[in-house]
Amino acid sequence: MIDQTPPKNTGPEPSRRFSIAPMMDWTTPHFRYLARILSRRALLYTEMVTTGALIHGDTQRFLRHDPAEYPLALQLGGSNPDELAKCATLAEEYGFSEVNLNVGCPSDRVQNNMIGACLMGHPDKVAEGVAAMKAATNLPVTVKHRIGINGRESWEELCEFIEKVSAAGCNTFIAHARIAILEGLSPKENRDIPPLKYDWVYRLKQTYPELEIIINGGIKTIEECHDHLRHTDGVMLGREAYHNPWLLTEVDPEFFGEEAPVTSRHDALRAMFPFIQKELDRGVYLTHITRHIMGLFLGMPGGRQFRRHLSENANKPGSGLEVVEQALAKVREPEAVLEN
Ligand SMILES: Cc1cc2nc3c(=O)[nH]c(=O)nc-3n(C[C@H](O)[C@H](O)[C@H](O)COP(=O)(O)O)c2cc1C
Repeated sequence: MIDQTPPKNTGPEPSRRFSIAPMMDWTTPHFRYLARILSRRALLYTEMVTTGALIHGDTQRFLRHDPAEYPLALQLGGSNPDELAKCATLAEEYGFSEVNLNVGCPSDRVQNNMIGACLMGHPDKVAEGVAAMKAATNLPVTVKHRIGINGRESWEELCEFIEKVSAAGCNTFIAHARIAILEGLSPKENRDIPPLKYDWVYRLKQTYPELEIIINGGIKTIEECHDHLRHTDGVMLGREAYHNPWLLTEVDPEFFGEEAPVTSRHDALRAMFPFIQKELDRGVYLTHITRHIMGLFLGMPGGRQFRRHLSENANKPGSGLEVVEQALAKVREPEAVLEN
């Protein structure tokens, strides 16, 4: 984990062929560490951090990550160009691979601060922010957005957004293929209720072939990823990657022609042990780590017992790695399944 002296991340610009979406409270350093064990190549995103929190809050804590997580993008929420520029500089200093601006979050809380999806209605403001970030960092600056917001949902308005923001220097757009409805729907409903319009994202790629267009929203299988990759430059998965992380072991073979880094769920979890111990040693509660590994044995014999053991025991005071070992013993290793 990086606390004091961030390393220089000198790697090449990461591939965005497959990425895991930024998700508040979900894509924490602990989930990301697991994700990286399962795929060497998936591009990872942090949770969104607002420019205000980063500048005026506990900067070290918000930017904390393990170099093992690279390639890793920092997602920012904000619209003040000076603040965005400052945060982009921090992203580079701390070794992130990319800085991404959130123009997709529909929560009321962020709307009031001109953060997130409401910015789809202010393309000039987004362009100004992107230009400021570009001037402040050599990192790639990308934008994650919706295809519109209520009241501003025409194709022409989407094009205006893309044209203004790309003219400011953003070459990569990650499009959540539904509009956001800014009044009346919760953030959760806004991820399910407005219909997905994948064809709009495909059309963006056709209209702006020089831009990198990544598609997001409702993608669940590797097969669906392959379909989308026929029309776009990359796919971003959120909820499915979190709930069913074993899917990530297919990413390196399917999209990069490389071997999967692990072949058993047990080995994947054991590979996390030193990291878990390190986190426990610095005072992190076990349950804050284990809540992000619940999906690892999804659908496997003993998977439910694994999850139950963790839910019932990881939150007890003083719980340590032994609780994870006990939970792991509830799921049979693949060889054992074959033998019985
Ligand atoms: C719990 C949760 C938190 C999220 N937090 C963020 C966030 O911080 N920033 C962001 O751009 N999108 C956020 N999203 C939206 C996802 O990045 C993604 O766009 C959305 O879930 C659609 O993709 P999916 O259908 O593959 O999950 C969040 C989604 C979930 C489920």
